[in-house]
Amino acid sequence: MLLVMTDDLARTNRLIQDLDAVEQMQLWDFYEDIHLFFKPRTILVDVAHLDSAAVSRLRSTLSEVRGPEVPLLLITLANTARAEALARVIGASETFSGTVPPNQGWERAVQIYHQEGASPRIQARRLAAEARQFLVEAFFSGDTITPAVATTGSDLIARAVRESGIRHWVFAVQRFDNATHQHCLLVAGLAAAFATNLGFGTLESYRLTKAALLHDVGKTQIPLSVLNKPSFLTPAEMTVMRTHAIKGYDMLKYDDFPQETLAVVRSHHELLDGSGYPDGLKEDEIPDLVRLTTICDIFGALIERRVYKDPMPAEKAYGILERMTGRLDMDLVRVFKPLATAIA
Ligand SMILES: [Fe+2]
Ligand SMILES: [Fe+2]
Repeated sequence: MLLVMTDDLARTNRLIQDLDAVEQMQLWDFYEDIHLFFKPRTILVDVAHLDSAAVSRLRSTLSEVRGPEVPLLLITLANTARAEALARVIGASETFSGTVPPNQGWERAVQIYHQEGASPRIQARRLAAEARQFLVEAFFSGDTITPAVATTGSDLIARAVRESGIRHWVFAVQRFDNATHQHCLLVAGLAAAFATNLGFGTLESYRLTKAALLHDVGKTQIPLSVLNKPSFLTPAEMTVMRTHAIKGYDMLKYDDFPQETLAVVRSHHELLDGSGYPDGLKEDEIPDLVRLTTICDIFGALIERRVYKDPMPAEKAYGILERMTGRLDMDLVRVFKPLATAIA
């Protein structure tokens, strides 16, 4: 795992836009506490304001998380004598000035990460294993999902939750209804693992995971008496429940989200034969990212515990997906099979 310590998540997120090559990366807001569940293989420090208090915090943190031989790259604001001294104090293996080619430190971090590690295919397999571990821990240990468990399962989820534009909405869902929050984490976990099965690169996987994490944000606009009703919904209540797709879209449309994310939020209940909602879209009108999320959403809803039902075994839940011929993209359902089998 490439651990990136930063004091400015927004700046760091901008810098890593094109870091397609790193399968596993965890962003760490330098001023927040976070638990690491995987030992980083490379560490990149991008903390702009390193006064003496920050340096001592950095040293004590590194003494906990940095294993022997783990390369540590430091990006400094300027190539000064002070920066060099600082690099020695914290034991940096290489130092880069933020004022010369802007992504030099990042490119080097990716290069070292790959030199130190296994092939991308093996790394992808590791990621899938971790996502599966997340699912197993979350749903078959009887524990509720905590943010910590979600972090162990998928760096992608952790990274998305920490992205400022997304964090706000994820926390809004969590504050409103923890069951819906857990459902969103599960669907995002499934989506991350699904992306691996599909051979997606980091950026594509991240796009899917983020969208899956947000897909039910509109449920915060549904009365809890309907959302968590322990029995069947009346037709009127069902109509209210179904508004969550458009409500979620309306909530996010003025933010800076890409169209593909908005499409997932609005259309994740659409089905290929036009029988879904809210727009009755058909076939090619339903984008791929939406189709993928819909499969994860249906499967996730079946295998999780709700107030009105026990969890369904994964094998049985996959059987239901298989019987949705004409409504789900069966090519994608087939690719989903190893994932369903792995958590059965
Ligand atoms: Fe939904
Ligand atoms: Fe959902």
